[in-house]
Amino acid sequence: MLRLLSFLLFVALASGCGRPIYNPFVRVVNGEDAVPYSWPWQVSLQYEKNGAFHHTCGGSLIDPDWVITAGHCISRSLTYRVVLGEYDRAEEEGPEQVIPIIPEDIFVHPLWNSSCVACGNDIALIKLSRSAQLGDTVQPACLPPAGYILPNEAPCYISGWGRLYTGGPLPDMLQQALLPVVDYEHCSRRDWWGSVVKKTMVCAGGDILSGCNGDSGGPLSCPAADGSWQVHGVTSFVSSLGCNTVKKPTVFTRVSAFEDWIKETIASH
Ligand SMILES: *[C@@H]1O[C@H](CO)[C@@H](O)[C@H](O)[C@H]1NC(C)=O
Repeated sequence: MLRLLSFLLFVALASGCGRPIYNPFVRVVNGEDAVPYSWPWQVSLQYEKNGAFHHTCGGSLIDPDWVITAGHCISRSLTYRVVLGEYDRAEEEGPEQVIPIIPEDIFVHPLWNSSCVACGNDIALIKLSRSAQLGDTVQPACLPPAGYILPNEAPCYISGWGRLYTGGPLPDMLQQALLPVVDYEHCSRRDWWGSVVKKTMVCAGGDILSGCNGDSGGPLSCPAADGSWQVHGVTSFVSSLGCNTVKKPTVFTRVSAFEDWIKETIASH
């Protein structure tokens, strides 16, 4: 038995991504506190203002040295840092790893156009100035296979420190919500997002059962057949009418559409 357990542990460690030590408590509710460290790839991207750092976006650790976030989260005039192993933003709990970011180590997709979110390419990679220390609270997510398209209603989760509901306060604890995928065929219908949504995006949620949780740049995490979690989406935009608007799902940059750019960027830096 012990030998079997240690073998299973070895298999889990060898795969190296997408297998939280603290399992997410997954159920259908309208947004809730996450189990601490159950989304160990979740990061807080923070910018400096008057000597203090402020949370601005989420992101996902995809490698010990790399975080993926949204292009619109990056402003060239600001100084950033990344916090890994964060849960309660109001408390210093111990596992936090605060990593400064060198401006030259931020790679926004070359086709990102800040005047045109609906044009897509809302994705950026950040190289950490020192490697993340991986362990039970910090672990990279797996990437989906290149080009992979999730089926309609795939049970994905959004997470982040974003608002609990439109106009609500910012929570201290990491939030999560089930956000079933809405496939392109449905999401691009005229009364849904129409031509605003592109094939390089993933839609998820869009009804009163869906959470509003999470925030820009953060992960849409989806279970893979082998039991690991893959980050399929980078949170990009919601309807200006609010995040639980019927037929207006949250829109994510589809990670599986950008794997060439991700691989090339990581390989060349
Ligand atoms: C960015 O988008 C705006 C609005 O759609 C457009 O007018 C502009 O030409 C775009 N810029 C580039 C560099 O493509």
